[in-house]
Amino acid sequence: MEQSDKDKVYIEMINRLSNLVGLLSIALIAAILIIIFGPPGFIKTAKSTNSNSTNSVNATNGSPSVQKTMDKNKIWMAPDLDAVPDSEAKAMLEYGRDLIANTAKYLGPNGSVAKISNGMNCQNCHLEAGTKPFGNNYSGVASTYPKFRERSGSIETIYKRVNDCIERSLNGIALDTLSKEMQAIKSYIEWLGNEVPKGEKPKGSGIVDLPYLKRAADPLKGKTAYQKHCTSCHTETGVGKLNTDGITYQYPPLWGPKSYNTGAGLYRLSRFAGYIKHNMPFGASYQNIILSDEEAWDIAAYVNSQDRPQKDLKMDWPKLAGKPVDHPFGPYADPFSEQQHKYGPFEPIAAAKKSAKK
Ligand code: HEC
Ligand code: HEC
Repeated sequence: MEQSDKDKVYIEMINRLSNLVGLLSIALIAAILIIIFGPPGFIKTAKSTNSNSTNSVNATNGSPSVQKTMDKNKIWMAPDLDAVPDSEAKAMLEYGRDLIANTAKYLGPNGSVAKISNGMNCQNCHLEAGTKPFGNNYSGVASTYPKFRERSGSIETIYKRVNDCIERSLNGIALDTLSKEMQAIKSYIEWLGNEVPKGEKPKGSGIVDLPYLKRAADPLKGKTAYQKHCTSCHTETGVGKLNTDGITYQYPPLWGPKSYNTGAGLYRLSRFAGYIKHNMPFGASYQNIILSDEEAWDIAAYVNSQDRPQKDLKMDWPKLAGKPVDHPFGPYADPFSEQQHKYGPFEPIAAAKKSAKK
């Protein structure tokens, strides 16, 4: 071969090789992207907006798979407790998880440890033992507590926050901080969020903030939507349905004497609407939303206009200006009525609040 022909062959070989390397690195980069960010949207399930999906409900009670590091753009996923090696510490975490998932068994009206709460489970509102994205999960607790909260006007520890939910959402009596049960709950909640950097709230933590409606939320419209989407499980009278053991709920109550009290977070319309938007009817999720924003607000208005246990709230919100716009009990730092603070429209209140801050 002549020198110039040899050169051509080399050049040709180098071209092919670099094409191959190019293709391989594209494939590699794609694989890495999929590993980091998950498969692209079109592979995942499409959003459904129909209401028939109530029928295709399935309950998941374990914890989902592992995702160790926190990426601010990625929705938080809980660490996998079952992957933790057996130890006394793990047993404590498992007890904590079980207390969250099956609270009534231990602390309900017939609880085996103490009879201090209304029969609901923490998991009724902190879904999948506090791990579900946008399901009021605990991912941002370890990283943000202790913290100052306006409701009490003080710096709160995780113990205090847990007891808040026991006294309000479970309409019960606070647990002793040193009890094994409180220690287990705290350990579990801390462990869930142990990889979240201090001060951060991961994407998907807590409850979503829905945009305000332009009008007041309407309990009458809410009643119609409730009958369409909710009665099949929570019943017409909102009292829920007990399991055959007569002790634990298959479908927890939404109002009546066994429900959360007037001091609970869900008694605020924004919390209730945000919670159900991504989680109800049961089986809904942020990827499978069933209710429209209007339905969510109107149902919140309907459910929270029904009777439920009262809590003495005299000590709450010591600083009036710190009250959220949808706190339904006066006095207020602004001239809006209790009615408007309960049902909205909230935008004018939020605007007034903002300009008062300036
Ligand atoms: C009836 C519903 C309900 C029940 C039952 C309930 N909670 Fe809550 N919990 C809430 C709501 C609502 C919030 C506030 C969420 C928000 O404002 O974003 C909350 C907040 C919390 C927080 C703070 C979360 C954060 O990110 O700051 C903790 C911790 C907590 N609950 C623990 C518990 C424990 C433990 C139990 C059971 C003993 C329990 N909750 C039962 C509704 C409930
Ligand atoms: C297919 C049955 C089903 C339907 C339909 C359903 N839910 Fe639920 N709901 C549940 C179950 C089960 C839980 C408790 C979840 C858990 O413990 O894992 C729950 C929990 C709740 C909670 C928190 C606990 C409580 O009792 O306060 C609220 C609020 C709620 N549902 C509201 C609604 C609303 C509003 C609708 C209609 C838009 C609705 N649900 C439709 C099954 C259902």
